[in-house]
Formats: sequence, C-alpha cells, structure tokens
Amino acid sequence: MKDRDPNNRSAGGWFRTKTIEQSIQDTEEPDHALNRSLSALDLTVFGVGVIIGTGIFVLTGAVAKEQAGPATALAFVVAGIVCALAALCYAEFASTVPVAGSAYTFSYASIGELPAWIIGWDLVLEFALGTAVVAVGWSGYVRSLMDNAGWHLPDALAGPDVAEGFGFDLLAFLLVLALTAVLVLGTKLSARVTTLIVAIKVVVVLIVIVAGAFFIDAKNYTPFIPPSSGSVEGSGLDAPLVQLMFGYEPTTFGVQGIFTAAAVVFFAFIGFDVVATTAEETVNPQRDMPRGILGSLLICTVLYVAVSLVVTGMQKYTELSVSAPLADAFKATGHPWYAGAISFGAAVGLTTVCMILLLGQTRVFFAMSRDGLLPRFFSKTHPHFRTPYRSTILLGVVIAIVAGFTSIEELAELVNIGTLFAFAIVALGVIVLRRTRPDLHRAFRTPWVPLLPIVSIAASLWLMLNLPTETWVRFAAWMALGFVIYAVYGRSHSRMNATTKP
Ligand code: ALA
Repeated sequence: MKDRDPNNRSAGGWFRTKTIEQSIQDTEEPDHALNRSLSALDLTVFGVGVIIGTGIFVLTGAVAKEQAGPATALAFVVAGIVCALAALCYAEFASTVPVAGSAYTFSYASIGELPAWIIGWDLVLEFALGTAVVAVGWSGYVRSLMDNAGWHLPDALAGPDVAEGFGFDLLAFLLVLALTAVLVLGTKLSARVTTLIVAIKVVVVLIVIVAGAFFIDAKNYTPFIPPSSGSVEGSGLDAPLVQLMFGYEPTTFGVQGIFTAAAVVFFAFIGFDVVATTAEETVNPQRDMPRGILGSLLICTVLYVAVSLVVTGMQKYTELSVSAPLADAFKATGHPWYAGAISFGAAVGLTTVCMILLLGQTRVFFAMSRDGLLPRFFSKTHPHFRTPYRSTILLGVVIAIVAGFTSIEELAELVNIGTLFAFAIVALGVIVLRRTRPDLHRAFRTPWVPLLPIVSIAASLWLMLNLPTETWVRFAAWMALGFVIYAVYGRSHSRMNATTKP
C-alpha cells in the first residue's frame, strides 16, 4: 500500500488527486485518445438535443395536474435557476480541464480519487438510467403513432407499464441497440444526425408555443398557484424528505408544491452537463465549452416556461393528460392535426436525447477505465473509428435490457437525485481548485467564487430534499454499492498507484 501518509494528497490516500496536466496528457496517448472535431455550434446543438425531451413532453402534464397547476411555469424557473448556477460552475471546470468524463474528471482533479469515483458511479444514475427512461418514453410515443396507423403491438411487448403480467418494452430495447451502433461508428456521424433531429424537435416545440398561444383561455390561469391540499398518497416514504424531516403533513400544490414540482421537472434540464463530457472532442474547449453549456441552457429555459404557460392556458390543469400532455391539449381544443405532428416530433426528438445520454455514459465510463478505476480493457479506442467501442457496446447492451424492463416513474426521480448530487460536488470542486491550483489558466471563470458555488450547492441540496424519501433510500443503497466496488477493485487498480510510487 502506498498511502502511508493519509494527509499527503499526492500519495496513495483516498483524496489523492490527479493533476490537471496529467488529465490532459492522458488524452494524448494514441490508443486512448478521442478525435477532436466539435465546434461551439455542435455543442449547443448537442445540448439542446439532449435537454428537450421526456421532461417537457411528458412530465409537464403530471406535474401541473398533481403538484403545481399553472404555476408549473414557476417550477421550471426554479429548476432553471438551480441549473444555471450549476452551469456556471460546470463551465469553469470544463474550460479548465478539457478531458472526457464531466464531473468525474473535474472532481478527480480537484477533490480526490474517492469523491471522483463516487461521482462517476453517481453519473451512472444520470446517464444510464436516464437513457433507459427516455427510451421508454420514446417507445410510448411511437406506439401511439403506430396505433393511429392501425398497428397495435401486443401489450406484453409494450413494457411493464402497459402489460398486465410479464412486459418487455421491445421498442425501447431496439432503440438503445440501434443508437449504440451509431455511437460506435463515430461522434461526428452522430452529431450530423443530431442536428437534423434537434431541428425537428425545436420546430415542434415552437409550434406548441405559437399555435397554442391562440387557444389560451385566460380562465384556466385561475388560480395560478392552486391552494395547498393534502396529498392523495403522499404519506410515509412517498412524501418529499423535507416534509418528513420537518414533520409537515404531506401536501401538494401551494408554494411548497412549486418546489416539489421543480424537483421533478428538473429532469427536463438534465443534459446541459453532457456538453461538458465532450470537452475532449472539442476543437477549442476553452472558448466553446462555456458558450455551448450556457447557450443551450438558456434556450431551453425560455422554451420550457413558454410551453408550460401555453399548455396550462389551453386546458384546465386538472384535465391535462399525463402521458402526452402537449399533443392532448391540442386534441382537447379540437386540433387533432397539430396533435399528430407534435407526437411525431416528440418521438423523433426523444431519439437524440437517448443517444446523447448514452454518449455521456460511455464517455464517463471511458474516463474511469482509462484511470484504472474500472478495467483498462474498456478504454481502448477503435483503431479506425476512434471511439471507445468496447465500453459503448457493453453499456449499450446493459441499458437496452434495463430499458426493456423499466418503469419510467420510479427511475426518473432517481436520475434527478444522482444528477443534483453531481452538481453539488462540481460546485465544491470549483472552490477547492481555486485554492489548490490558483495558477491554472481558466478560459471561463465562475463569477463571485466562493459565494456562487455555495449558493449552487445549497440550491441543489434543496431540490434533492424535495424528492421522495424512498428515492433517498435507493440513492443511498446505490452509493453504498459503489463504495464497496471502489474499496475492492478501483483503489488497488488505479493508475495513480503507478504514478505515485516513491
Ligand atoms: N432533459 C432530458 C429530458 O427531458 C433528459 O428528457
């Protein structure tokens, strides 16, 4: 063992850090390097491509109906602010440490190996489970379009949410496998496909906003913040942790309901951080990363607020659909043609969300493998395509199977808690790195350090506290499992062991 002195951060302690220079140098190993081909525009398209998805197309309806009413627009603002704070921290890190792996790499360079492992493990919740959740959402929209055309898939192949007994979501399974193949062939190809699909998705969202604005009935906005009421099933572990902690009666709606809703619609913003995971493939990460991250986040926040205002204005919140709220609001106001176009756009748009989340997952896995915390076998890039094909194929197959058996609701909240936790660690990392490495060139500097990162940590924790207690229990179990794997494998196989030999 090399950690004779646990206080020595550069030796074998759990808080040993990998230098920024080492992180950047690692990307230059020929067999373990990714191709640099992405521009600021590619990054923004990537961001918007992954951000707009199940959150706005599906969750808006359930949240308005059950937690916040027309004030769902405010929930999007709250979640957007939490993300903007985190984005300002992500942008500094991504422009300082331009290597694959997002929050994982950032925390390895600032706080230490164990926290980095915890983050990498935690990001699996965001990316892998997020991919599965979105694939299942996509499958629902495709089945709805198929039904319109008179093709009905047997319930047993429509997934566990639909089938009475055994259910396997065949379409979600096939989607993940197909996207895995696209990613193995190369990021550039994926980016081109993404550009076209993102355009369709944004047009559909704009149709909802512009066309829907003509069908708004101002009566539907009263009450804008529905009065607080007792939760139907919100008792025990279903209730947000914050309510349990402070001994409140579990409630929905009211001002508290806006925060509960924000913790759920937060899912709609997940993805801007994925832009940071492609830093290593960006031509000029110092300049383009902050532009890509903040730009895509701003565009999406404006669209979400507009969409939620329009939809809750078109239909009384109590009557909104929970499976396809945007399309169904148009059906309810007597415009089925728009509904069909929106369903089509949603099905197409969710494809990119799924693909980019999968890409983010493979990149984090790649970085962890390159560092030896996971077997090095997985970080070898393809000799021709230059993609980390081994980890992509392994993860793609596992996620496809999870998607086949996944129920959306249970997993979306787990995705949120994992992501918020990563945000808090990144914000902490900004503060730590400013102290430990003040000399580093930072193309983008987070304003008001340490105040802004501290507010960002508090905001992320606040949203986490608004998630159900059972989500916390699952999160704790997942993290405990990760800790065991690190103690048994990662700690002894880390490449830091080789570089810190006396
Ligand atoms: N933000 C992405 C979505 O809403 C993950 O589907």
